[in-house]
Amino acid sequence: MYSLFIRLEQFWQGLWTLSSLWQHKGMAKRKPSESANLLIPLHPTIPALQKAAKDCQACDLWKRGTQTVFGEGEAGAKVIFVGEQPGDREDLEGKPFVGPAGGLLDKALVEAGIDRKKVYVTNAVKHFKWEPRGKRRIHKKPDAAEIAACRPWLDAEIAALRPKVVVCLGATAGQALLGRGFRVTQHRGEFVESPLAPFVMATVHPSSILRAPDDETRHLEMRRFVADLKKLAGVLS
Ligand code: URA
Repeated sequence: MYSLFIRLEQFWQGLWTLSSLWQHKGMAKRKPSESANLLIPLHPTIPALQKAAKDCQACDLWKRGTQTVFGEGEAGAKVIFVGEQPGDREDLEGKPFVGPAGGLLDKALVEAGIDRKKVYVTNAVKHFKWEPRGKRRIHKKPDAAEIAACRPWLDAEIAALRPKVVVCLGATAGQALLGRGFRVTQHRGEFVESPLAPFVMATVHPSSILRAPDDETRHLEMRRFVADLKKLAGVLS
């Protein structure tokens, strides 16, 4: 009787080890983007996606950020602006482009004659990646794995809105959506062929204008940014 008990015990131990090995192997093999894919709701409207993305742990950035910062804007928006990732203010407020870069984007949109309330703004990565420097949280560029892990959300936003125009703001968004070889410096302000939307363009990130070394350069860069945005007015009317 005792030996039967031992054998049963060994049998369960074996099953338990096999099942943990299987789970471990499954986790190691699982691509991060698959885990965000698993969260996409059956009816992926923007509000449903916003809600589902709150729980996203497809990469480790959720541990660092305060919250998921999902895209925002009009349901029928014809234009999507895609930035890199939320900054410090966005992370705290839970809304994209509400900090200094957002302020500059708003100003440029007004100058280009585009109503911000009629566009949708989002980011390639939906958590703030930062590292501490003293008491400050310093922005850190997301890496390729983090961008890939977040990609299902961006794809779902584009699929839900089916915009006429997608605008990539800066190199991270440009490369995330148009390929690693894409250079904003070479193709800024050009409409490029892409299955994402009828019109796809990349331009600089508003933060790059804020970082200009002097007023004159900042002013010039702002003019160039507004000129790129004005091209959208032509295809939106
Ligand atoms: N920079 C971005 O790329 N996105 C934001 O939402 C804010 C700053």
